[in-house]
Amino acid sequence: MTRTVNIDDLRRRARRRLPRVVFDFLDGGAEDEVTLRRNRQAYEDIRLTPRILKGGTVDLSIDLFGQKFASPFMIGPTGLNGIYWPKGDLHLAGAAEDAGIGFAVSTASNSSMEEIAQRSGGPLWFQLYPWGKEAFSRALIDRASEAGYSALIITVDSLVGGKRERDLRHGFAHEITMSAPIVLDGLMHPGWLKSVWLSNNRPRLQNLVAFLGERASDKELADFTRSQRNPHFSWEDVRRIRKQWNGPLLIKGIMCAEDALRARQEGADGVIVSNHGGRQLDGAPATIDVIGDIAGQLDKDAKILLDGGIRRGSDTVKALALGAHGVLLGRAPLYGLAAHGREGVAQALSILEDELRRTMIFVGCQSVRDLGAQHIAAMKTGVAGPG
Ligand SMILES: Cc1cc2nc3c(=O)[nH]c(=O)nc-3n(C[C@H](O)[C@H](O)[C@H](O)COP(=O)(O)O)c2cc1C
Repeated sequence: MTRTVNIDDLRRRARRRLPRVVFDFLDGGAEDEVTLRRNRQAYEDIRLTPRILKGGTVDLSIDLFGQKFASPFMIGPTGLNGIYWPKGDLHLAGAAEDAGIGFAVSTASNSSMEEIAQRSGGPLWFQLYPWGKEAFSRALIDRASEAGYSALIITVDSLVGGKRERDLRHGFAHEITMSAPIVLDGLMHPGWLKSVWLSNNRPRLQNLVAFLGERASDKELADFTRSQRNPHFSWEDVRRIRKQWNGPLLIKGIMCAEDALRARQEGADGVIVSNHGGRQLDGAPATIDVIGDIAGQLDKDAKILLDGGIRRGSDTVKALALGAHGVLLGRAPLYGLAAHGREGVAQALSILEDELRRTMIFVGCQSVRDLGAQHIAAMKTGVAGPG
């Protein structure tokens, strides 16, 4: 077997181990996947300036809301992590803790937020999908606070679901509906079938079980999730949640300076510049295309994170040079999880950290906190520079 040297190698391994329906859920984007591709291409359109003989040691650590992270990565919130590997959320949390970075637990996690908090000693943030009526988010926020989550993320780019055509073709929507081709595909991936599908660890939306009761079926949980979309969620609701949650609050899914400024006005401590990894509005710009403008207009106390398309350590250098304080990883650790479980997540994190450290030395910068516009050599037009 060829050696794993980069994130794309883990992706290829994940593709071999997973049935197509599962791999496509992980890998795919909305509609024509233009934004999904742009998230990667935009990094290729940016050049870094090599600087020589500035020393070979670098400090990768950052501070977010008084918490120290060993590097500027965080594992971002993703739902259904248990469909790649049993207890996927716990492996992501464990590998993040070992790497000294944070993990954001999704509303749609397959281990309950309480279990993840009990089993992990690393920094944990909770990501809220503002589904349903007020009582739904109120209950989840109280639980996150009780379980010791240190920051709350509200994801605001999913008031309606993206049109993910790979999932539609497979008939996949928060649950796997068995059909002849899917059963056949499962049989051709026996490792996955045995460990995930035929085991006692079959993934359920554990945070939602409390709303429907332990005996709720997978279908009832999936139906509940679909029925809870709330297209009327508004800034007023953000204000209400701000009053309820005492810790740091971040709004995820911000793609322009005007919305970022409004988030600050409504009391958010930070924003996550995100297009949901190209899974929602197809045709949205890449996040790296808009980060410079957003960072240029926000006050210096605002924390700015970014995600979308991070597959190389050098992508992180570019994001930080253009104004982000840290980056969230979506698919990169999931490819690792799907390929080799916790070991694969650790591998993904270590690959990215190694690439980041090398790139920092190549650009002659001793601390990720000192990255700035001076490290960018050139950007193709269409990419807004640092403000
Ligand atoms: C399989 C998958 C599931 C996701 N689930 C969630 C989720 O539950 N909540 C959320 O806020 N974002 C979710 N996202 C979006 C990620 O948090 C993140 O914005 C995106 O994956 C970043 O892009 P990248 O995958 O290219 O790194 C999901 C993304 C993927 C790929």
